[in-house]
Amino acid sequence: MNEPIETPPAEPAPPGLMVIFGAGGDLTRRKLIPALYYLTRDGLLSDRFAIIGVDHVEGNDDSFRARLDDALPAFIGEDFSPDLWAHMRQRIFYLEGDFLEDDAFTRLARRLEEIGRQRDIPDNHLYYMATPPRFFGEIASRLHRAGLTAETEGHWRRIVVEKPFGQDLQSARVLNNTLHDAFEERQIYRIDHYLGKETVQNILMYRLANSTVEPIWNYRYIDHVQITVAETVGVENRAGYYDRAGALRDMLPNHLLALMSVVAMEPANALDGEAVRDEQAKILRIVQPIEPQQVLTQVVRGQYAAGRTADGTHVPAYRSEPGVDPESPTETFVALKLMIDSWRWAGVPFYLRTGKRMPVRYTEIAIQFKHAPNMLFKDSFVKRENIPPNVLILRIQPNEGIGMCFNTKVPSPVPQLSPVQMDFSYADYFGQAPTTGYETLIYDALCGDPTLFKRADTIEAGWALVEPILDVWSALPPRDFGNYPAGTWGPPEADALMHDEGRSWRKC
Ligand SMILES: NC(=O)c1ccc[n+]([C@@H]2O[C@H](COP(=O)([O-])OP(=O)(O)OC[C@H]3O[C@@H](n4cnc5c(N)ncnc54)[C@H](OP(=O)(O)O)[C@@H]3O)[C@@H](O)[C@H]2O)c1
Repeated sequence: MNEPIETPPAEPAPPGLMVIFGAGGDLTRRKLIPALYYLTRDGLLSDRFAIIGVDHVEGNDDSFRARLDDALPAFIGEDFSPDLWAHMRQRIFYLEGDFLEDDAFTRLARRLEEIGRQRDIPDNHLYYMATPPRFFGEIASRLHRAGLTAETEGHWRRIVVEKPFGQDLQSARVLNNTLHDAFEERQIYRIDHYLGKETVQNILMYRLANSTVEPIWNYRYIDHVQITVAETVGVENRAGYYDRAGALRDMLPNHLLALMSVVAMEPANALDGEAVRDEQAKILRIVQPIEPQQVLTQVVRGQYAAGRTADGTHVPAYRSEPGVDPESPTETFVALKLMIDSWRWAGVPFYLRTGKRMPVRYTEIAIQFKHAPNMLFKDSFVKRENIPPNVLILRIQPNEGIGMCFNTKVPSPVPQLSPVQMDFSYADYFGQAPTTGYETLIYDALCGDPTLFKRADTIEAGWALVEPILDVWSALPPRDFGNYPAGTWGPPEADALMHDEGRSWRKC
């Protein structure tokens, strides 16, 4: 195996205090504290770093630490080190308080000052919104009123905002305006945890560091691009949120468009936060808007009916799930075609789909290349149309890696071709260090690197693309839901979307 090209080891992030709002919640327990544990293990947090959890759950430093004592080993598994945790837990503090009461923020300011002084931590603050979205703006405004957002004497103040970022264009704009009243745009880090995944970060490196790939990344060689985010689970315990949001709102403006813009963007002139995000924003601005009449032909919606999962378990219809309206018009599947108005992507469709209760859980980007001329085979029984096209597969999850489907001769006296697949797997090559996917994002936010975070303009451009679809769907409620059985690849119209253009979805 070749050794990786040598790069200097990563330095610990600068010292500071991280405040987690929603410290009693699921995200904190399952992702944030484990991610901070892995960062501690890897020496990527400063010795002068501490965490303050804020929540209305009754408690103090000791009870919060004790709750984490119980929860953490389960999320870390066999890698859990009691010594490492003992070292980390004494940097964790708790403040009981209500996000809607100014008093909590006055007390927070005092606590930050006190811990900073005791632990010799400079006045750098990272505020992480691990809360339901209705609190994002409320907390930002109260932080501002408590004097906790202004950057003075070279100290930084940053806010990390979780998804969902608004419910539509209007609410996203309102939220951006509220955040901008309290913070400068450069202080705001909007998370899309897909962008924290290794394979997504690798797309750019792979495209631009390989001379066999970079020249063919355009309309001359690429026939189309497919992006799939397939989940096997149903709505689980998220009905309260999901039945109001649906698959389009939940996945398109953030994850799917983020993946598309990384594939489609022009090379930035530097691996720098603003340069990379400028190129991604440009892509979203030049996606052809979907006209209302095109919603009917270019966008497919679906909702799962009862069916069976891959292991044969019978599962109920979406409308029979606990907490879901029995006549819910909410889509659990969406597939659509987008075109990008650029020289590079002229005539190259991007097909995007996502759904719940699919047969297999996976996220991938498939780049399908145009057919070779195949003159060689013109007099043989190998017909051009029977030769599968080359496909480059960027696997985001599970089993992160890159695959290439190509054709090769079958060993035999008669000319016979067979498609084969060449595979690179991250885990096989680099080994698998357990992570939550949040380590890079927390580390980057502490270091002040915004490259992997969404800017206000990309968020609003994403919603502007989705808006016409939401409008048409609300004017024309679905008449055929549940139109795909659980455990299948969505409604037949999703296949037709591609078949009508002589293409088909890759089956995993
Ligand atoms: N969970 C995940 O894996 C995940 C993944 C991706 C994104 N996210 C996003 O991350 C955010 C947090 O998700 P979550 O699942 O952790 O949320 P959550 O479980 O609802 O946690 C939020 C915490 O805030 C507390 N809280 C609610 N109202 C409060 C108030 N007025 N004052 C003080 N504390 C209050 C909650 O207490 P109560 O329980 O008493 O209300 C809870 O402990 C959401 O925006 C979500 O969309 C979550």
